[in-house]
Amino acid sequence: MTTDSGCDLQRDQAGRLRHLLTLEGLSRDELSHLLDLAQFYVRFPGELPARDQSLWGRTVANLFFEPSTRTRVSFELAARRLGADVVNLDLHSSSRVKGETVLDTIYTLQAMQVDVFVMRDAEPGLPAYVAQSVAAHVSVLNAGEAHVSHPTQGLLDVLTIRQRKGDVSGLSVAIVGDVSHSRVARSTGRALLTLGVGELRLVSPSNLMPAPGELEGAARYTTLAEGIRDADVIMALRIQHERMSASDALDKESFYREWGISTENLRHARPDAIVMHPGPMNRGVEITSEVADGPQSVIRQQVTNGVAVRMAVLATIVRNVQERNVEAGRRAG
Ligand code: NCD
Repeated sequence: MTTDSGCDLQRDQAGRLRHLLTLEGLSRDELSHLLDLAQFYVRFPGELPARDQSLWGRTVANLFFEPSTRTRVSFELAARRLGADVVNLDLHSSSRVKGETVLDTIYTLQAMQVDVFVMRDAEPGLPAYVAQSVAAHVSVLNAGEAHVSHPTQGLLDVLTIRQRKGDVSGLSVAIVGDVSHSRVARSTGRALLTLGVGELRLVSPSNLMPAPGELEGAARYTTLAEGIRDADVIMALRIQHERMSASDALDKESFYREWGISTENLRHARPDAIVMHPGPMNRGVEITSEVADGPQSVIRQQVTNGVAVRMAVLATIVRNVQERNVEAGRRAG
């Protein structure tokens, strides 16, 4: 089901990250470097946001062919806080609806000197396809690709865990719910495995478990109590109704009874466990309001970290492209 083929494509000839299509293939050092830079950009609500001019003169275009609140707004704020111009395509009125191919839309925007495309799509493969087609100075950032990957969400989840719990090597992390349709589970799981997490658990009804072989190294549990027992981190996931066939359709009440994270079943986890959710949440389905708004929840901290992570990714990618341009210029001149 997974086609995560962007790992080589996302680097330039010198091995620098030029696009961010996937966390597959990123080394522990590369992930740590991005997380450290993101930490540098973190400010909490009430403080003035971090700002610099790393993207001064650049233009970032947000192309979201699927709904988004957190990811789109945080990419926009991140780009603006680094001094970029930002355009958000209103995709209901965009040319794709009128029959223009996505590539023609990309080339049109590239002709207006867009330097970075931030893309979300319901079909697998679009970010890699666009990355193969853009000019050498242009980058593509994956902001959510079907069920396959959501690299910046993976980074912000790990940053949040690191802030609350320190090094991941001693931690037991349980990802709960509709894992099979979740790009978040895949990217966060991949980042945790690369960083040497103590234990990664996929906790899900068997029909919502990813195919065997995916996220190799993770333990699999088909009951909630077992899956979250003594866990340090519990991450609830939204049920991805939009990626399910009619035959997979779920009854929300029975899902809540068996899989919803509540104060009662949270007692199986460690008393200091943190609870995460990428949002948007369905309260009373995958998580109760009491837990989502309770003392163990770090859901809003995840959102805060989302801006910092996107600043770190934008600044890194643009710096790498700049370095490549300087080298290419030297060779030519
Ligand atoms: C997630 C997504 O779009 O993949 N949300 C997000 O980016 N914060 C999770 C979801 O939609 O359930």
